[in-house]
Amino acid sequence: MVISPGGSVSGVVELPGDKSISHRYAILSALAEGTSEIFNYASAADCRSTLECLRRLGVQIEVAKDCLRIAGVGLDGLKPSRRALDAENSGSTIRMLSGVLAGQPFTTTITGDRSLCKRPMRRIVEPLRQMGAEISTHDGDRAPLEIRGGNLHAIDYTTPVPSAQVKSAILLAGLYADGITSVRESVATRDHTELALREFGADISIEKNVARIHPRPKLAARQLTVPGDLSAAVFMIAAALVLPDSALMLHNVGLNPTRTKVLDFLISIGASINIASVQMRDGELVGDLAVRDTALKGGTIAGAQVAEMIDELPMLAALGPYTEQGIEIHDAKELRVKESDRIAALAEGLRAMGANVEEFPDGLRVGGRPGATAGKLHGAKVDPHGDHRIAMALGVAALGAVDDTTIRDADCAAVSFPEFFATLDRLRGNSTSS
Ligand code: S3P
Repeated sequence: MVISPGGSVSGVVELPGDKSISHRYAILSALAEGTSEIFNYASAADCRSTLECLRRLGVQIEVAKDCLRIAGVGLDGLKPSRRALDAENSGSTIRMLSGVLAGQPFTTTITGDRSLCKRPMRRIVEPLRQMGAEISTHDGDRAPLEIRGGNLHAIDYTTPVPSAQVKSAILLAGLYADGITSVRESVATRDHTELALREFGADISIEKNVARIHPRPKLAARQLTVPGDLSAAVFMIAAALVLPDSALMLHNVGLNPTRTKVLDFLISIGASINIASVQMRDGELVGDLAVRDTALKGGTIAGAQVAEMIDELPMLAALGPYTEQGIEIHDAKELRVKESDRIAALAEGLRAMGANVEEFPDGLRVGGRPGATAGKLHGAKVDPHGDHRIAMALGVAALGAVDDTTIRDADCAAVSFPEFFATLDRLRGNSTSS
């Protein structure tokens, strides 16, 4: 993919359905009784991986014109799969489904692509073993996971790293436990699983940083609409901040407060983002965002902020050269075990484009351009290492460079936002590709 710099972005954007929420609606629809209809299900490849795994477990899923119809099999209706389940690139799929598989009276193997098989799994394996599942791993911490489920005990668990995937795996296993399962976390991570469980009729309480699930609810099929993906929106917002004279309107964006810290941060460093028409839909907040290009001061992200905007850190780091003081990120070791080592991949890509980058074990500092409103990156050949968010972050940074940037295997953006490059083209007035 070759990105030519310059121009501006303007117009209206309808975002793909939120990736995190889509996974959860699909899984809970499968476990409910009756047929659920999900509107605006994510186009992300990751969410297709979840559907394929559910199909292998005997769930019938119909892709209709404007929605997905999932015929729920009830809590006890999943069937053993003859073949291993393939979560492909999706950490949410393997980790959340492992929670469900831990509750099944059969054995399942679940695995993924090369990137996923390098990512840590002990964080879910340990609590699920404590609940009584037998799980074998590769190398102690990696997929493939072989999960022999059944007869789970309730636990009261404090997550060692703040992770919504870990919390969700335990809560889903808690549906099959012999008492109330609690999950405590030091930083409140995204609560879509809790909200979705409630929508489907589970008995769940959410107090500050503690979720408690009662076992064996009767989950009832629902009709639900997935909000637009705020994490995808952030790449468009960043494009509007990089390109002078930009103005975007983003419709129906998910504004769950456990996801919006990125907007607070962007506004705190000078971004012009206005929020309108906020409403509650199916337990989730949704609204419209209006964004205009503005000069950015830059700033530091550390501590709890890291977990609160974990998926947006690549884009925020890549905005560094477009700020006055740069962007500095600390306490973000987790970035090294995402779809790629995101700290290393960002440092390599941004340096290749002429940014001033200092790498730390737990973060990085991307220098700003004091006195200038726009960065002076140059074009380069960059490699996102197969990581969708790195491809998009470098793609946006390339918009403000002085010449063309080539992004290797940029198609990996489809993992979360297949329409990304075409949408960018359309908003820049190059209407051919979308
Ligand atoms: C997600 C949780 C986060 C996030 C991922 C999606 C989820 O992962 O990075 O993209 O849907 O629960 P961790 O739980 O590993 O922090």
